[in-house]
This record gives sequence, C-alpha cells and structure tokens, in this order.
Amino acid sequence: MAEDSMLPVDQPAATTLTITSTPPLQKAEFSNRTLIKTILSRPDGGAALAGQKVTIGGWVKTGREQGKGSFAFLEVNDGSCPANLQVIVDSSVYQLSQLVATGTCVWLEGELKSPPEGTKQKIEFRVQKVLDVGPVDPAKYPLPKTRLTLEFLRDVVHLRPRTNTISAVARIRNALAYATHTFFQQHGFLYIHTPIITTSDCEGAGEMFQVTTLISEAEKSEKELIKNPPPSEADIEAAKKVVEEKGKAVADLKAAKASKEEISASVAELTKAKENLSKLEERSKLKPGIPKKDGKIDYSQDFFARQAFLTVSGQLQVESFACCLSSVYTFGPTFRAEHSHTSRHLAEFWMVEPEIAFADLQDDMNCSEKYVQFLCKWLLDNCLDDLQFMAKTFDKGCIDRLTMVSSTPFERVSYTEAVEILENVKDKKFENKVEWGIDLASEHERYLTEVVFQKPVIVYNYPKGIKAFYMRLNDDTKTVAAMDVLVPKVGELIGGSQREERLEVIQQRILDMGLPLEPYEWYLDLRRYGTVKHSGFGLGFERMILFATGIDNIRDVIPFPRYPGRADL
Ligand code: 4AD
Ligand code: MG
Repeated sequence: MAEDSMLPVDQPAATTLTITSTPPLQKAEFSNRTLIKTILSRPDGGAALAGQKVTIGGWVKTGREQGKGSFAFLEVNDGSCPANLQVIVDSSVYQLSQLVATGTCVWLEGELKSPPEGTKQKIEFRVQKVLDVGPVDPAKYPLPKTRLTLEFLRDVVHLRPRTNTISAVARIRNALAYATHTFFQQHGFLYIHTPIITTSDCEGAGEMFQVTTLISEAEKSEKELIKNPPPSEADIEAAKKVVEEKGKAVADLKAAKASKEEISASVAELTKAKENLSKLEERSKLKPGIPKKDGKIDYSQDFFARQAFLTVSGQLQVESFACCLSSVYTFGPTFRAEHSHTSRHLAEFWMVEPEIAFADLQDDMNCSEKYVQFLCKWLLDNCLDDLQFMAKTFDKGCIDRLTMVSSTPFERVSYTEAVEILENVKDKKFENKVEWGIDLASEHERYLTEVVFQKPVIVYNYPKGIKAFYMRLNDDTKTVAAMDVLVPKVGELIGGSQREERLEVIQQRILDMGLPLEPYEWYLDLRRYGTVKHSGFGLGFERMILFATGIDNIRDVIPFPRYPGRADL
C-alpha cells in the first residue's frame, strides 16, 4: 500500500505491480542525499535505476586513479549497508588525488549508470559535481590499508567504526536493540527507565563502582589551601582585636554625641572588620582530605548525603514497577567492578531485564526462550548481508547457528542433572573440578551447550549458596528457582529466576548471606504490601552480539569498551 500511495494517480494497475518490485528511489529525509542501501539493496542490485540523477555522501573505502590519471574509481560507503557503491569520477570534474585516499569524505552529485558487461556490480555512479570533500593525508591516517586486527583497533576506538567489522557490529547491535523493544512491546511489556546511580547492591556481590564527589571536593580544597593558606591563630587574634577596636570607636563616638555621618562611617568600618573575622574563622575550619567522623569516611557530607554506586542491574527497581504494572522491562547500561580479564566480561555492559508478575520459573524460561529465538530470527530477516560478512570473516557457522537457535526448542536440565552429566564426562578433562555445589565455570557451560546438547540449554534450580538472595527458595530448601540460559560460543547468555515473594523467607536469606537488611527495606516493602509471585531475567546484550556474530572478544562488540585498565574517550 505504501508504494501505491507514492504513485501518480493515473498509473494503470499493471504498472503498479512492476514498480512494486523495484520501488522508486527515495531521498533521505533529513540530509541531502540518497542512502546507498536504498540503491544497492534492491532485488535487482539497483540495475533498474540506471539513468537516475542522485546525490550521495560517504567515505572512500578504496580509491585508485586509472587511465593515466584521466579518471578514478572510488568504492564509497555511507554506513547504511555493508556494500560499497562504485563511483567513477573524471579528472575534468575534480582533482583526483584529493579523492582517492582511504577515509576521504565525499559528497557527490551524479548519475547512476549501467556498468559495462561482465562487471560484478549491477549499478555504478558517475560523478557530475563534487559538492564537498573531507580530505585525508594518507601518510598520517592512523588506519593503514592492510588488514587490521581487532586488538590493534582497540587502540583507536574513535576511528574503528570506519572498518567493515565494527560498522557491521554497529548495525547488528542496533538491530538487536530494535528487536528487543519490538519483542517486549508486542507482548505488552512497559519499558521502565531504572536508575544508573543507586544505593542498593542488587547482586549483593560488592562489585560496585562508587559514585562520590568527596574526592574531587577534597582535591579542590587542597588546591585552594595551597593557593590561599589558612589563617594562623595570630591572624585570627589580630582580626578579633580590630573588631574590638572598631567597636570601641563606635561606642566612643556615640558617647561623644558625634555627627550621624561620623557614627555611620565608623559602624561601616566595624561591619567590615566583623566580616573579615568571620571569613578568616570560616577558612580556618577548612581541612584538607576526605571528611571523617569517628574514624570513618563521613558520607553525610557526600553529594547524596550517603554512599551511592553505579548500578549492577536494574532488577530491584524494575520489580517495584512489575509489582503493580505487571509486565515490564528495563534496558540500559550496568557496571561491575570485577577484575575479570576475560573475553566475556566488561566493566560497563548493557542488560535487558524483563520482569513479569504472576509468573513462575517455567514462565520465565518460556519468555527467555521466545525472546532469544525472536532476536535470532530478526537478525536473519533484517541483517543477512552483515551476517554474511561475519560468516566470511569470523565464524562460518554463525548463520547456521542463528537458524538452528531460532527454530529449535531449548533443552532444559536441572543443575543437579547437569552436574551428573559433567561428572560422567570421559573425553575431556576440565580445569575446574565438578561437584554438586560449585558455580559452573564457562568451560562446563560451553561443554553442556556445545558438546552434550548442541543447542541452547536452560539450567535451573541451582544451589542456594551460589545464587543471589532474591531468588525463590525451593521446597527442598537447598536449591533456588534460578535459571541460566547457556548458548554455544558464549556460555551464559541469560541469568534469571523466580523471585522470593515471601517476606520472612527473603529477610532470612538476606541475613544468611551476611547482608544488612536496612538498604533493602524498600525492596521488602514489595513483599509487605500486595506481594505477588513474579519472575524475571537479565540478558547480557554484548554476549548476544558475540553469539550472533561469532566475534571472540566482548571488547569488540560495544562501541567504547571499559575493562580493567582501560576507559578510552
Ligand atoms: O546473571 P547476572 O548477574 O544476573 C543479573 O544481574 C540479574 N539481576 C538479572 C535479572 O534477573 N534481572 O547477569 C545477567 C547477564 C549474564 O547472564 C551475562 O550474560 C551478562 O548479564 N553479564 C555480563 N556481560 C558482560 N560483562 C559482564 N561483566 C557481565 N556480567 C554479567
Ligand atoms: Mg549469572
């Protein structure tokens, strides 16, 4: 219907059908150009567009002068798709040496033309006018033309989106975010923005980054004191003496019935002396360093008048919305100060956290399975060109893996069963010993999903000792209603649980874990008033991208990675 509405009213129906298969070329709405994707991603590769005049903008991937410098070929990419548009520019139109360097920005007017027989591309672009150029000095450009490793690119995070890999990751990441909102919106979930600064430790693991202005304030007062040393006691005594003298002068003038003018001039001097004294007294109180009380840091003087942190998870806060709005989710950055130097951990990562009221662990597992399958299918439907690039460059199995996961029911095994399976493994020696009660290591998780089941596995009912306080205690009193979704290539993709809705039980769990009750009192209110059976989970967004792309290191699938020792830009 959308195509029809763009046609002139007198178009006969037969023409409508033909045009629907190659829709009219659309200009970008907020910038003066046509997106290269709209040219190249047509069923005919753009062939039918020959003869159309367009404006394009982009960056030169490769350029070379030809025909003894009479013309140049440029491969131009504008980020709208992985493919480049082949551009031909004559030396009569522009100085070619200014255009051919990799990284050069070009904004061009010209005509789409059919390429000569036998060439790979279906359409090319002949430049008629160069609207603008952002030049590059190839001798100085930090991205050499040779194939660059992802490690090398981590040292130039601001330029790495110009590479084919990082731009494909950006498009896939964007598609997964869009798919996430689409999935939850379609299922009636409300998107809740949970705070980034929090005073509650959701996981109770003490891995939080602290948010404080005490340090910068202390530095400021130290600098101030160096520039302007505090007054000595003698300075203050002297200032007090001046106040005394000025006071006496006023009294004397009043007693002598001096003129109004004389008295008020003297009062003004007294006021000035008093102000000077109070300033000195105030400055004498300035102490360098962090404020302390009873030998401990005095957080009552901190910005929030208490200790505050960056959130490790929006779960606790989103629960307060689930316990009245029913189905909700949060999707935002989370922060963990764990010193994990692995290819699966970041200090700042994004998490998608749905929370569902009137839902038990089965419902939770069902939701996680449907959501992951939806994401896989979405990528296959919307990002196939980028996935093909990933398959060619990093992981030839990535498309098959997405296809398999999108259509195969996930295996479900209890933790106890999983441990039994792992204990009986004969063909592999694990670095970490397996026994009931251990936290499964990445090698165990990957063995279960990659070797034993060869598909995603949901492990549920973990020992209570290794899981967070908020997970619901099972009737056996040894395990909790937790579940982890394990996928090939990554291991743990999702962690979730049914929440403990019983007030006394959760209070006891908090205490048993050695945590204080006070910071969780607000959370306990959700159990005190109108408590409800509810469940939720968290999907590590970057882990989902690792799974989809087959890229090995999580530092390469977030635009600006933060990990121990590094926070560039
Ligand atoms: O298993 P986690 O710690 O669960 C929670 O945070 C719960 N509060 C979620 C909830 O129930 N609402 O973390 C969830 C997921 C993990 O399965 C993993 O995929 C990812 O977050 N994750 C990390 N990703 C990157 N770097 C890290 N340091 C991560 N830690 C966890
Ligand atoms: Mg976990």
